[in-house]
Amino acid sequence: MHVVPRITALSLAALLAGGCASLGGGSGGGSAVKTVALESRSGSSVTGNLKLSDTKAGLRIRGEVRGLAPGSEHGFHIHEKGDCSAPDAASAGPHFNPAGVAHGRAGSGGAHHAGDMPNIKADAKGVAKVDQVVAGVTLAAGASSATGRALVVHRDPDDYTSQPAGNAGPRFACGVIR
Ligand code: CU
Ligand code: ZN
Repeated sequence: MHVVPRITALSLAALLAGGCASLGGGSGGGSAVKTVALESRSGSSVTGNLKLSDTKAGLRIRGEVRGLAPGSEHGFHIHEKGDCSAPDAASAGPHFNPAGVAHGRAGSGGAHHAGDMPNIKADAKGVAKVDQVVAGVTLAAGASSATGRALVVHRDPDDYTSQPAGNAGPRFACGVIR
């Protein structure tokens, strides 16, 4: 008698989902796309919706941030703690920095936190379209996993130089990566 593994509709769906994730990823872990809702903090009206996924180049973050001043630029980081509960989002802690290095400009070749990212820029309607990849960070479990941390948008641009956080001012929006 042949031994044929039975593939139920459910496990087939799981296989397909896993296959899609590893096509984009390379972690092979089959991590799915995660959605993060950014909520206003520090008295701002900034909100956002972002989709996160693992790619070979790193953590891809796509979506929109709304309620910004037209043409404005804002610091945008992964912060260490997945806790946006404080009115000023201070509960999210400092920048995600598993290597214990200085704040800086991602992609410059110089030292920077794992959670450092380029500033986001609002269009004439106050909407910033986000599509960037954070090298060295994953959704999948590991030392550089962003899961259980937070995404934060600041009032001011990150100058990529000032310590410990680029002098980007108050935290205007925060969302937990669950
Ligand atoms: Cu920040
Ligand atoms: Zn930093």
